[in-house]
Amino acid sequence: MLGSLLDDALDRTVVGGYTNVGYALRSQLWPPDDLPSMAGRTALVTGATSGLGLATAEGFARLGARVVLVARDAERGERARARVAEYGRGVQPQLELCDLASLRAVGELAERVKAGLDRLDVAVHNAGVLPPARELTVDGIELTFAVNVVAPFLLTRRLVDMLQRSRPARIVTVSSGGMYARGLHASDLQFAAGEFSGTTAYARTKRAQVVLAEMWASRLRDRGIVVSAVHPGWADTPGLSAALPAFHRLTRPLLRTAEQGADTIVWLGAAARPGRETGGFWHDRRRRPTHLLPGTGESAADRQTLWQECERLTGGPVRDA
Ligand SMILES: NC(=O)c1ccc[n+]([C@@H]2O[C@H](COP(=O)([O-])OP(=O)(O)OC[C@H]3O[C@@H](n4cnc5c(N)ncnc54)[C@H](OP(=O)(O)O)[C@@H]3O)[C@@H](O)[C@H]2O)c1
Repeated sequence: MLGSLLDDALDRTVVGGYTNVGYALRSQLWPPDDLPSMAGRTALVTGATSGLGLATAEGFARLGARVVLVARDAERGERARARVAEYGRGVQPQLELCDLASLRAVGELAERVKAGLDRLDVAVHNAGVLPPARELTVDGIELTFAVNVVAPFLLTRRLVDMLQRSRPARIVTVSSGGMYARGLHASDLQFAAGEFSGTTAYARTKRAQVVLAEMWASRLRDRGIVVSAVHPGWADTPGLSAALPAFHRLTRPLLRTAEQGADTIVWLGAAARPGRETGGFWHDRRRRPTHLLPGTGESAADRQTLWQECERLTGGPVRDA
């Protein structure tokens, strides 16, 4: 009881909860042996070359899982694969190259995964971008929306059958506490109107990730697939220092390590308790509210607009989920 009161208080202060202070205080309350072996299970992680994705891949490997690292750059990918191999208990991690900003590449990745692996127990959508200017992908989709939202949607719809065959299975999407600041903005999902702001676009896509996790969760509830979204707090990663250099400089002593930021991602993929609850938004091993600020809520129609836009961009209606 005292623990949850302290935890809530940390959450409301933001700085207290998101930093290494929050992690240090909360992690004392966690049972020490809450992460069971993942031997015999396979976990795919996107954005596995650095930061939270690499720490997540290492975490799964440490638990004995076969890890599939998804990366767009062969050299960075191979470096990460070699690092993860050091943690693996004799199970060799696998590298899959894919630029998530290309729908064709994402489709091909899904086909390779289905052809090359006999099972898939956990899929972590971790890769994310915060570009400074509005940019379009080869498919003509705004880059933030393409990488953070459309790519995970396409990968999920293509891998659902495989995950179901390996059930109980899990899908984890790495969102951000930044999503609290913004609503979905369903009328302009690709930021076509007004002056582009990278941080606003990012926060909207992070909100969209949480909404889609909830929508996938209710569709996949009866298929043995638990879907979660998570926010990692503030972690010292190459992505954070590149996208928000001033914020990074200011907060550096308080930032979590990548491993601390990845803790709940690994926990959601491995531990027993989150496997019993689908559709949650998690931070530091506890479910968190999805709305804190007025004006950030979305209607059922907004949610439907987002879902249908993702369907339209990835091959039409999702029939079997
Ligand atoms: N760090 C934080 O405090 C924090 C806070 C809230 C949320 N997050 C979220 O956590 C996730 C990981 O971020 P991070 O901080 O660990 O940043 P990071 O170190 O920059 O990692 C981002 C990863 O995404 C990959 N990626 C980006 N665009 C890609 C593309 N088109 N195709 C394939 N891979 C691509 C990057 O690959 P390359 O190596 O090729 O660039 C990298 O592996 C993101 O979703 C981010 O929004 C982070």
